[in-house]
Amino acid sequence: MMMLLVVLLGVWLNSASAAKLGVVQTEGGQVEGKSHRMGLFSSVDVFKGIPFADVPGKWEKPKPHPGWDGVMKATKYRDRCLQVTLLQTKTQGSEDCLYLNIFVPQGTKLSTNLPVMVYLFGGAFLLGASNDVAILGDSLYDGKEMADRGNVIIVTVNYRVGTMGFLSTGDSRLPGNYGLWDQHAAISWVRRNIEAFGGNPDNITIFGQSAGAASVSYQMLSPYNKGLFRRAITQCGVALSPWAIQSNPMALTKKIARKVGCWRSDEEEMLTCLKMSDPVGLTMAGKIDVLLILGKGVVMDLLELSPVVDGDFIPDEPSKLFHNAAKFDYLAGVNSMDGHIFAGVDVPSINMRNATSVDQVKGLLSGLTKEKGSAAVPSAYSVYSSPWGSTPDPGVIKKTVADIETDFLFLVPTQIALQLHANNTSGARTYSYLFNMETRIPGFPKWVEAEHAEDLQYLFGKPFATPLVYFPRHRDLSGYMIAYWTNFARTGDPNTGESRVPTPWPQFTKYHQPYLTINHKISKSSVSFDLRSDYVNYWTQTYSSLPSIKREE
Ligand SMILES: *[C@@H]1O[C@H](CO)[C@@H](O)[C@H](O)[C@H]1NC(C)=O
Ligand SMILES: *[C@@H]1O[C@H](CO)[C@@H](O)[C@H](O)[C@H]1NC(C)=O
Ligand SMILES: *[C@@H]1O[C@H](CO)[C@@H](O)[C@H](O)[C@H]1NC(C)=O
Ligand SMILES: *[C@@H]1O[C@H](CO)[C@@H](O)[C@H](O)[C@H]1NC(C)=O
Repeated sequence: MMMLLVVLLGVWLNSASAAKLGVVQTEGGQVEGKSHRMGLFSSVDVFKGIPFADVPGKWEKPKPHPGWDGVMKATKYRDRCLQVTLLQTKTQGSEDCLYLNIFVPQGTKLSTNLPVMVYLFGGAFLLGASNDVAILGDSLYDGKEMADRGNVIIVTVNYRVGTMGFLSTGDSRLPGNYGLWDQHAAISWVRRNIEAFGGNPDNITIFGQSAGAASVSYQMLSPYNKGLFRRAITQCGVALSPWAIQSNPMALTKKIARKVGCWRSDEEEMLTCLKMSDPVGLTMAGKIDVLLILGKGVVMDLLELSPVVDGDFIPDEPSKLFHNAAKFDYLAGVNSMDGHIFAGVDVPSINMRNATSVDQVKGLLSGLTKEKGSAAVPSAYSVYSSPWGSTPDPGVIKKTVADIETDFLFLVPTQIALQLHANNTSGARTYSYLFNMETRIPGFPKWVEAEHAEDLQYLFGKPFATPLVYFPRHRDLSGYMIAYWTNFARTGDPNTGESRVPTPWPQFTKYHQPYLTINHKISKSSVSFDLRSDYVNYWTQTYSSLPSIKREE
């Protein structure tokens, strides 16, 4: 009797289980992924390593893939694009790297017409991959939880980084932005093929974090993406971030040429030599040397291999391209301590017992504002020290250092992008947030809140996927973020869709600048206005009206 029950239960479970896509026809050929059970009636079809372009030529735009015969097993992630390792002692990855991964949620019937979210990874345009950071099993960017809980298709894509992705001469010889072209090719592939996976090609949202967010921002501003996607989300980075653009690419190209033995006084000969050089050596030559700047500059100066104004994909300065972004719904925000990790390198005393001195604060300001000579330091110092009082607590000074880096590198550029978007739209929506969940990284002083990249574990549902290393409050936060993000992808409004949200998130407009503070306790009082407007006004008005000095190389 018991046996029979077990058998019957088995039969029922099998028939009750979710639908599967099986083999899918794409433009290049057939692919077959793997179905992962999530709940009793739900699963996620996962396709790993589908090529969206051919192996790219060195410093060339991506080309269409020639296709394949038979069924391609899409069950393993492919190589990341050639890059230095985290410790920068060697390289990893390959030039054959233009692949994407697809996560499709299924219920008892096959999904159709789902919203699609395409993720661009971060890593300073130097590192990273669509399947990066696998610490407890799955990659940080594994799309299963988001797809299942938000009922959206998640796509994660590779793009070229470092020397192979962003070297440029600043002219037509080596225009640069190869990594941005890869992203564009991936989004175009999704647009052409996602219907066969149950997606709605008219409902694509692109999202990304850090350099991936700056990339999303560039894709919004490029004239090549009109009508290709509908919405965009930038987390902790925009094209206006000072680290997201290289305004003197030729000087950098010469520096890299020197490192690989290609420096020649004749530029044509130098470029011929670079084109014949070994990709591994070129990639190593693009590494950043933190020791070089200790005590002499700021980390930001090291992030050199970045997008450029190429007169084509990016036809002009990013701030002059917001008319191209007017039709996309846009959601953007920063973490409250995005700059802390950089501040800790530039002013190490903030994370030590030692006091942080006024001179160190001024030194940081002077490093960040070099382009204005020394003219900006007194005014910037007076703005940031004005809340201190006569005998500031040492912790207050340290937190100010983190705030300065957060404002300069992330928060202020994001506020400008939000305003330029809201001021230019006709009908598209704009939303702003501040993520300030307490940090989970042990050992930092009490005043440290949300570090750079700490938002990602919640968005990708890690508190559900690996519940043992999180508390219930982390699952609350994760649920809120997935709900707001996937509602936005579905309707352009984070409040409306298939998921309930804890409080309404009002639109950011030309005349009202509300933002939602995101942590594990979201309520009506989580909506505030005019995020750090005194500081935003200082940088956008007082600071930007100071004359720039000529940069010497
Ligand atoms: C996007 O998807 C939502 C939900 O499936 C649907 O209501 C909406 O009409 C779609 N938009 C377009 C342009 O197809
Ligand atoms: C719209 O964007 C352009 C850049 O494309 C910018 O110059 C302009 O100031 C923006 N318009 C408004 C009303 O802010
Ligand atoms: C911290 O303070 C100690 C003792 O005053 C001093 O020896 C040390 O050099 C300081 N470290 C830094 C990084 O300033
Ligand atoms: C956007 O428009 C508002 C209202 O006219 C204005 O105050 C603000 O400076 C504009 N922002 C930008 C970045 O142009």
